[in-house]
Amino acid sequence: MMRRCGISKWLLLRFAASCLLFTTYASAPGALCAQTATDERLLYPGWWPRHSTPSGNEYVGPVECAKCHPGKAAEQKNTPMARTAALVADSDILARHNQLTFQAGRTSYQIARSEGKTEYTVTDGTRSISAPLTWSFGDGRVGQSYLFEREGNLYESRVSYFGILKALDFTPGRRLTEPRDLEEAMARPVTGSEIVRCFACHTTSSTINDTFQRDRIIPGITCEACHGPGLKHAAAEQMAYLQGSAGESGHEADLIFDPGKLNPVDAVDFCGACHGTWWDVKLGSLEGLANLRAQPYRLEKSRCWGRKGDARLTCVACHDPHQELVRDSASYDKKCLSCHLAATSMKPTPDHQGPACKVGTKNCASCHMPKYLDPGMHYTFTDHDIRVVRQGAPYPD
Ligand code: HEC
Ligand code: HEC
Ligand code: HEC
Ligand code: HEC
Ligand code: HEC
Ligand code: HEC
Ligand code: HEC
Repeated sequence: MMRRCGISKWLLLRFAASCLLFTTYASAPGALCAQTATDERLLYPGWWPRHSTPSGNEYVGPVECAKCHPGKAAEQKNTPMARTAALVADSDILARHNQLTFQAGRTSYQIARSEGKTEYTVTDGTRSISAPLTWSFGDGRVGQSYLFEREGNLYESRVSYFGILKALDFTPGRRLTEPRDLEEAMARPVTGSEIVRCFACHTTSSTINDTFQRDRIIPGITCEACHGPGLKHAAAEQMAYLQGSAGESGHEADLIFDPGKLNPVDAVDFCGACHGTWWDVKLGSLEGLANLRAQPYRLEKSRCWGRKGDARLTCVACHDPHQELVRDSASYDKKCLSCHLAATSMKPTPDHQGPACKVGTKNCASCHMPKYLDPGMHYTFTDHDIRVVRQGAPYPD
């Protein structure tokens, strides 16, 4: 099957080479020839999320897309993905909390908003330092962190807001017991390649010519963060509209990236560009609960995924990226039952090879996709390693 985007031929060549290399990893499952680390994907030409583009002018912004795709645009803009980064002045969380405080030993933290400015202040009783915040990261339902600038450098606030607490606590993984000085207690410097990565995963059009370009940023994961720059597509469709041939399928489709045409393995790697692919986890040595939130990795290690994957079990089989996450566990049942038999009396067929459950007939995910508390995040996340969960069994790595 040929995909219409330019990436396919390149990848096929590279996969042949990668396979030889990757089979030397003892832990690698048999058929992962096509699973790829995101850093490797980003070396190829052709669109992929987080990819650099030669010019920021190729992006038109979600308001343009909305003119012809109003339904998708109206829903997508309310998703946590679309809202995952904002200029601090636009942060809903900070609009609702004029003053947030946090105390750790002698150090007190404060985020206070007045007259449109948000000031971050850290005090140890004798000294006090402040900086105006510039960016909020995270839509806030789970958590929100803050970035600010000082003398041209970017810093991440040592404290973050947590949706469950409705208050500040240490930014996960950044707690310090003995900060060297007040500066270190206040924030962590974010430098070079990390800035590029943070913004590529949380905003649109921030990486131009492989560098971070702040003047072109569209906050949040908007249409073009997934579909690639859309100027040529928008212009061609506009032209077709004027010529009276709009909506005729097939014309100029190459001008926009359609992830719907990816094979199952690539489709999961696609979301994995930000959510963490199988190889991103392996090469990053993320072990134990640290890999819980890399859903692509967890899903692909489950027995349901099998050796080659299946379109009935990609991320988009269960989640529409243009809509808010469905929280009702029972509504995922039909996804499970697209492969699993509904009753133990039934016999497997070519398209229903999954055995039936002896225990339950509904709410499958509630038992087979267990939730784990991440204490640093103050939040419970869903394990995408679909399996029989035995009481007291350790977290399967
Ligand atoms: C002037 C109207 C117009 C604008 C603006 C527009 N689109 Fe489209 N788009 C269309 C039409 C019409 C189709 C169906 C074309 C076809 O099937 O050949 C389409 C198809 C698509 C597809 C499916 C492609 C495929 O291969 O089937 C995607 C994805 C898409 N648009 C995304 C976007 C994004 C993202 C933007 C903003 C950057 C955008 N569109 C802006 C009119 C528009
Ligand atoms: C490789 C991509 C990637 C990078 C790099 C990245 N993030 Fe994220 N971030 C994500 C994804 C994906 C989520 C949502 C994870 C989920 O819900 O499972 C997220 C979630 C968050 C959240 C919401 C709270 C939470 O944990 O759900 C905050 C805040 C956040 N990131 C801040 C940052 C900051 C600050 C940086 C840089 C210093 C950064 N991220 C770098 C991908 C990334
Ligand atoms: C360009 C980076 C990027 C890509 C690509 C991406 N995501 Fe996300 N996604 C994020 C970030 C960042 C968040 C965190 C939102 C927050 O809480 O601030 C997130 C959050 C989510 C959530 C949680 C929403 C909620 O309500 O808790 C789901 C579900 C999700 N993504 C699904 C997908 C799927 C499916 C795909 C592939 C079609 C995908 N994502 C591709 C960056 C990305
Ligand atoms: C997180 C990634 C992500 C974001 C953000 C995103 N899309 Fe999509 N889009 C996808 C994926 C994945 C598919 C293929 C879905 C499938 O196969 O079920 C798709 C399919 C489409 C299609 C073609 C299929 C259809 O259902 O008509 C259009 C048109 C489209 N998107 C437009 C948009 C527009 C407009 C926006 C912004 C408002 C947007 N998308 C934002 C990932 C994304
Ligand atoms: C078989 C269905 C299924 C598939 C496939 C699936 N998910 Fe989920 N996902 C769920 C369920 C169920 C939840 C929990 C919903 C709830 O109860 O809040 C969830 C929750 C999430 C969340 C919210 C954070 C959390 O941990 O609860 C994110 C982010 C997410 N999925 C991303 C992905 C990505 C990325 C993929 C592809 C690798 C994927 N999912 C594939 C069923 C699925
Ligand atoms: C693409 C098809 C497919 C989908 C979708 C699917 N499964 Fe499976 N699943 C299978 C197959 C096939 C097996 C048997 C694998 C084997 O024997 O190696 C399996 C095995 C299992 C097992 C036994 C695993 C073990 O560790 O012993 C459980 C439990 C399970 N599936 C539950 C679910 C649930 C719950 C869902 C929905 C959230 C789901 N599956 C979605 C195909 C699927
Ligand atoms: C109340 C919790 C619960 C619910 C709900 C539930 N299961 Fe199970 N399931 C289990 C347990 C426990 C086992 C292990 C049974 C055993 O080995 O004796 C199991 C076993 C399985 C197996 C392995 C069967 C085998 O022969 O290897 C599959 C597949 C499965 N469940 C799928 C599903 C699907 C699909 C649904 C929804 C239609 C579902 N389960 C609902 C608890 C549940």
